Amino acid sequence: MGRRRSFGSRLLAGLALASMSICLVLLHQLSQDGKAAIGGATNEAIERRQRHSHRYLLMAAAGSGSVPAAASAIESKQQPSPTAKETAPRNGEDNNNNNNQSSTSDAVDRRLPRLLIIGVRKGGTRALLEMLNLHRDIAMVPVEVHFFDKFDNYQRGLDWYRSQMPLSSDAQLTVEKSPSYYVTPEVPERVYAMNPHVQLVLIVRDPVTRLLSDFAQIEASRAAQNLPNRRFQDVALLPNGEVNTQNRALHVSLYAKFLSRWLHVFPRRQLHIVDGDRLIRDPWPELQKVERFLGLEHLIRRDQFYFNATKGFYCLTGTPTDVSNDNVTLATADENSHHSHHYHHKCLAGSKGRRHPQVPDEVISVLRQFFAPHNRKFFAMVGQDFDWPEQ
Ligand code: A3P
Repeated sequence: MGRRRSFGSRLLAGLALASMSICLVLLHQLSQDGKAAIGGATNEAIERRQRHSHRYLLMAAAGSGSVPAAASAIESKQQPSPTAKETAPRNGEDNNNNNNQSSTSDAVDRRLPRLLIIGVRKGGTRALLEMLNLHRDIAMVPVEVHFFDKFDNYQRGLDWYRSQMPLSSDAQLTVEKSPSYYVTPEVPERVYAMNPHVQLVLIVRDPVTRLLSDFAQIEASRAAQNLPNRRFQDVALLPNGEVNTQNRALHVSLYAKFLSRWLHVFPRRQLHIVDGDRLIRDPWPELQKVERFLGLEHLIRRDQFYFNATKGFYCLTGTPTDVSNDNVTLATADENSHHSHHYHHKCLAGSKGRRHPQVPDEVISVLRQFFAPHNRKFFAMVGQDFDWPEQ
């Protein structure tokens, strides 16, 4: 009996040991999988885990430097200030619409934009974004995502939109710009559904100049497709000399028409309007106004802009961290660039600052007169006079 009992207990002990070993092997396997995943993870894989509440994995990966993109948004910036964190509204503050934000101040994460540059096309949207990105508390999306205006993208949902965002710290404001947001009817309500507290920036310029700029861009892309060039006046005016109101590009310059949709959804105080003509002449004061609107510390400095006579526009110099050597990437801002770089000197790409067509004064005058009442309406709506010529 005694021998059978001891054999039985030895058997039991053996079984217990065997199952413990199996557990240990499994646990080891799991931890190896986890490490391998962290080490070689793509950002998508990390985000998939995030969505399943495994935030610590991302944190660990960011801490160990194994998330290469972690650098993209914040590497060239100083530690974000508490000021911005305290003053800027948070995504989804009042709506539980899938906007789970980090509760840890230094967590590196992808965040939905709290600021959108909604337009206007050819208003100077790229220049504004790049200039704003000099601020350490701004994390810009380098490409136009077109989430709210393109149905296929919108259907992919907010998780997809978030996956397009740069990594940022909690104190940083993520900013995305897609100029067609301004003119697309569905966009204001879609943006509101994401975050009713989102801050909006619109950059406008003299509507006739904007039209010329738009025309120059359209003609450049026609030339790239080997299509014949056209004269501006043949597109903007009808054969009888009247304004061609069917022209699509002309419609984009009717700012008031689109603004009413936005103001129907958002209070005026959530929209800041940048004077694009002034941004060209002297960018710094316009950026100071944007900093104020966003409740950001005034960190962008006048000496971060210099006039480049060859380009004919202001270019950017230095980074918020004041890179003091010249051994940094000399980057050109490009709509198609997928990276935000360190840069010491940076002018916008050749597609910004194109030569405008030579147009007879009478044509300009007809257009100015056409836009004048629309402009006045716009000034009244925004409570700001841009003083665009009427003759
Ligand atoms: P042009 O190319 O007609 O001169 P967007 O980025 O919205 O497409 O706007 C392009 C316009 O930004 C350019 O139109 C240019 O005038 C303007 N812009 C403003 N600041 C600029 C800068 N510092 N460098 C280049 N273009 C700038």
